[in-house]
Amino acid sequence: MIPRSNHGSRSRNGSPMRPAFPGTASYRPDNISITDDLHPVIHAGRVALITGAASGIGRAAALEFAKLGLKVAIADVNEEKLQEVGKALAATIGEANVLVVPTNVSKLEDVVRLRDRVYEQWGEVAVLMNNAGIGDKGTSWDGIENWRKVFDVNLFGIINVQQTFVPSMLHQENPAIVINTGSKQGITNPPGNAAYNASKAAVKSLTEGLAHELRERPNSDVTAHLFM
Ligand SMILES: NC(=O)c1ccc[n+]([C@@H]2O[C@H](COP(=O)([O-])OP(=O)(O)OC[C@H]3O[C@@H](n4cnc5c(N)ncnc54)[C@H](O)[C@@H]3O)[C@@H](O)[C@H]2O)c1
Repeated sequence: MIPRSNHGSRSRNGSPMRPAFPGTASYRPDNISITDDLHPVIHAGRVALITGAASGIGRAAALEFAKLGLKVAIADVNEEKLQEVGKALAATIGEANVLVVPTNVSKLEDVVRLRDRVYEQWGEVAVLMNNAGIGDKGTSWDGIENWRKVFDVNLFGIINVQQTFVPSMLHQENPAIVINTGSKQGITNPPGNAAYNASKAAVKSLTEGLAHELRERPNSDVTAHLFM
């Protein structure tokens, strides 16, 4: 476990999902224990909320958090697949520790309802994973509706969640983290999907802005991280 004092310092930490290089002579990749090297927020009994959790990365993250003993809230527009993930989580951590909330992150009212459900049930969010995303393709000069859709989910989905959850997380007693899922495509801009690339570039910028604001806030115990 990272000592609490390290977390409290303003040093730039690596991804909370990945063990930091300990920098000692005894370091061996194969002697890292995941549970020993996790960010202290990722702790049994605490709450993880993952959007876009009905499939892919979000589903996998939800199952991993459950294995580590966290309570898990999952949100997604695909209700049928979300319920299936809920059942898989309940098999690991029990129904009482799972919250399934069908949510369209591009709709602020859905996100507000999601926050109310999670805080009514558990009173906190330790790990907020903003993961919902779409990759619908479109060229730069047409498909304006597609551009709006991609930005509504990939960028405004995250903005809706940040604006709704971060004020509550700042008032929690214990530290918390925000993980925003970007993409290397937001940096490398491979040709063929300008809307997706631009939305993920914006997610990088948004996350760096949030991380800076949180770092500068006196006594803030919430940090933000870009995952890609
Ligand atoms: N798979 C990759 O190689 C890769 C690489 C870089 C980044 N990413 C990013 O990782 C995230 C997850 O991708 P994935 O590969 O697991 O894709 P995925 O399609 O398996 O999962 C995305 C989930 O988001 C949900 N979703 C879509 N619109 C939503 C909305 N409006 N509200 C709530 N949920 C919504 C979908 O229903 C789906 O379950 C995305 O943000 C994606 O851009 C993926």
